[in-house]
Amino acid sequence: MKNLLLTLFSVLIFLPAIAQNQKSFQPGELWPDNKGIHINAHGGGIMFYEGKYYWFGEHKIEGKMGNRAMVGVHCYSSGDLLNWTEEGIALEVDKDNPDSDITQGCILERPKVIYNAKTGKFVMWFHLELKGMGYAAARTGLAVADKVTGPFTFVRSLNPNAGEWPLNFADELKGKNWPDDLKPWSDEWVQAVKDGMLLKRDFQKGQMARDMTLYVDKDGKAYHIHASEENLTLHISELTDDYLGFTGNYIRVQPTGHNEAPSIFEYNGKYYMITSGCTGWAPNAARLLVSDSVMGEWEYVNNPCVGEDRDLTFHSQSTYILPVEGKTDAFIFMADRWQPQNPIDGRYIWLPIQFDDKGLPVLEWMDSWSMEIFDR
Ligand code: DGJ
Repeated sequence: MKNLLLTLFSVLIFLPAIAQNQKSFQPGELWPDNKGIHINAHGGGIMFYEGKYYWFGEHKIEGKMGNRAMVGVHCYSSGDLLNWTEEGIALEVDKDNPDSDITQGCILERPKVIYNAKTGKFVMWFHLELKGMGYAAARTGLAVADKVTGPFTFVRSLNPNAGEWPLNFADELKGKNWPDDLKPWSDEWVQAVKDGMLLKRDFQKGQMARDMTLYVDKDGKAYHIHASEENLTLHISELTDDYLGFTGNYIRVQPTGHNEAPSIFEYNGKYYMITSGCTGWAPNAARLLVSDSVMGEWEYVNNPCVGEDRDLTFHSQSTYILPVEGKTDAFIFMADRWQPQNPIDGRYIWLPIQFDDKGLPVLEWMDSWSMEIFDR
């Protein structure tokens, strides 16, 4: 018996990784890692560090409850973006402490990791919903690690920007009050939300923070971009120099625009953001916004998708835009094709960002594509 166990153990330890030879991106197909298992990193983001890409995302499980965080944030690494090695769970949910903000069974979505060169720390922020409260808490969570693949240590969760007015909020609106009984979606209600009714409601306790991403600008400043005010208005907040907190400088983007799933990149001196509308796990049409700076005036441009299923973002929802290392003007749009009935089976829709003759980003469906597309 002992021998049998020993043999089994050695077989498992020395089990060769499955030879990986993925040569093209195949949006929507199963995407096996080095162990032959479909990558489990949903709502993710990617960080490039010392010659390798690191993909962090939600570890989902099987079945209808699979969107609950039962495991944590999964990490994979790759040198070529096609073949991924499983690196384990970078941030584990707390399985022992029911009072932890990240206790097993909470909702932990869209984790993003950035590296702070000044402190040498890897900083993860994510959308956190406290266990048993549905989507009411609307917090952002913070975890930190000394090593890129973790383990990340949970630091705290919060509703950001408590007691702070947005930089682009008119002084004359700060004292405004509204009747409690405005009918949702009536003209008066929409105007009240535009004028900051929900912002003011959450002013003392801190603002709601749901779907999120992080962006590090070329000057090293980092920004936390999230859906706030009941998902009606995006907030872009500046992070402190160590990326571990909010400076209190933030702006509102598209009040009542109902944008979720923000993803952002810079091209040709402009900042572009691709978002989705708000329809739960169901796909909807993507939106392209443009600005001259991260904290600037964001304007709606169009739906950047073309062709069949353009109004459903090819059955997916944005999560991140990845600049490809070593190539100029090469960006990959990363999106999730959610499977709410069996979340672990969610698929990844990665498409190259193309540019039209006006220089505007365009997304077009491709069954298969490879990096050569960027050698234009
Ligand atoms: C859409 C969001 O983009 C997802 O991250 C998730 O929060 C779902 N809504 C939940 O319905």
